[in-house]
Amino acid sequence: MNVFTSKTELAKFLDQERIKDKNIGFVPTMGALHQGHLSLIQESKKRTSLTVCSIYVNPTQFNVQSDLKNYPRNTAKDIELLDAENCDVCFLPSTNEIYPNGVAKLLNIDLGGLDKRMEGKHRPGHFDGVVTVVNNLFKIINPDIAFFGEKDFQQLAVIRKMTQVLNINVEITGCPIIRDPGGLAMSSRNEMLTDQEWLAAPFIHNTLLEAKDLNGTIQEKIDLVIKQFENHALFTLDYFDIASERTLKPSIEESSEAQRAFIAAFIGNIRLIDNIALNN
Ligand code: PAF
Repeated sequence: MNVFTSKTELAKFLDQERIKDKNIGFVPTMGALHQGHLSLIQESKKRTSLTVCSIYVNPTQFNVQSDLKNYPRNTAKDIELLDAENCDVCFLPSTNEIYPNGVAKLLNIDLGGLDKRMEGKHRPGHFDGVVTVVNNLFKIINPDIAFFGEKDFQQLAVIRKMTQVLNINVEITGCPIIRDPGGLAMSSRNEMLTDQEWLAAPFIHNTLLEAKDLNGTIQEKIDLVIKQFENHALFTLDYFDIASERTLKPSIEESSEAQRAFIAAFIGNIRLIDNIALNN
C-alpha cells in the first residue's frame, strides 16, 4: 500500500494512475478502523480499480473539545488493517495540508436544512466541519465514487446535497450499517466503552427494533423509546426522531415515503448514534 502525507504527492500519483484508466474509489475516515470501515474498503475494491482511504481526525467537526481529545487514534493498526484489505493508498494528511487557510475558514453553503436537524441541532457546527473536510479531500483526490456508511445516515444525505450544491462530479454511495453479533452498530467510539457499557450497548439497536415492530402510530413509537430510555440505568437519550429519508424532516404520520428512525444516546460520556429503516 502507498502511504502519502503530502497532498501534492498524492494528487501527482493519482493523476498518473488516471492516465492508466484507473477509476478511483475513496473512503474518508477518522481512523480507529473497524469492520464497518473495512466493508467500505471492500465495496470500493469491488466497484473501482484504485481505492484511497484517508485517515484524518477532523478538528472542525467536533463541537466538544474533550471529545476531540479523547477520540481513539491508532494509525499503526489502521495501516495494518488497510494493508490486509489490499487497499491501494492510505492518505494521512496533517491539518496544514487539509486547511491551508486555517481551520476557522469553513465552507458556508445552503444544505436545504438537512444539516440543521438531529445531529446538526445537537452538535452545532458539526456539519460545517464535515462538509468542509470532505470537500477539501474531494478536491485533492477527485474520486469517481466515494463510500460512506449508513450509520451516519444524516451525514450521507448532507454530503450528497453538498455535491449537488457545489456541482462536484462524484458518485456518493451509501453502504449498510455493520453490527457486532449483539447488534451494536460498529463505531470507532465503541473502543471507548467499558466492558459493562459494551455489554449494555446493544440496547440501542434492540430499542430501535422494538419501535419498528410496534404496531402503532409514530407518536406511540416515540413514547415507547423515551420510556425505555427513562427506565435504563446506564443510558441517557439525546434524541429519537422518526423522519423522512429524503428530507430528514420529522414524520407526523406513516406514509408511503421511506421513513427511518434515528437515535443518539449517551452511555457514560460516550455518545453513540444509530438508525433503522422503518418501511423499506
Ligand atoms: O464519518 C466520518 O468518519 C467523518 O465524519 C468523515 C466523513 C471522515 C469526515 O471527517
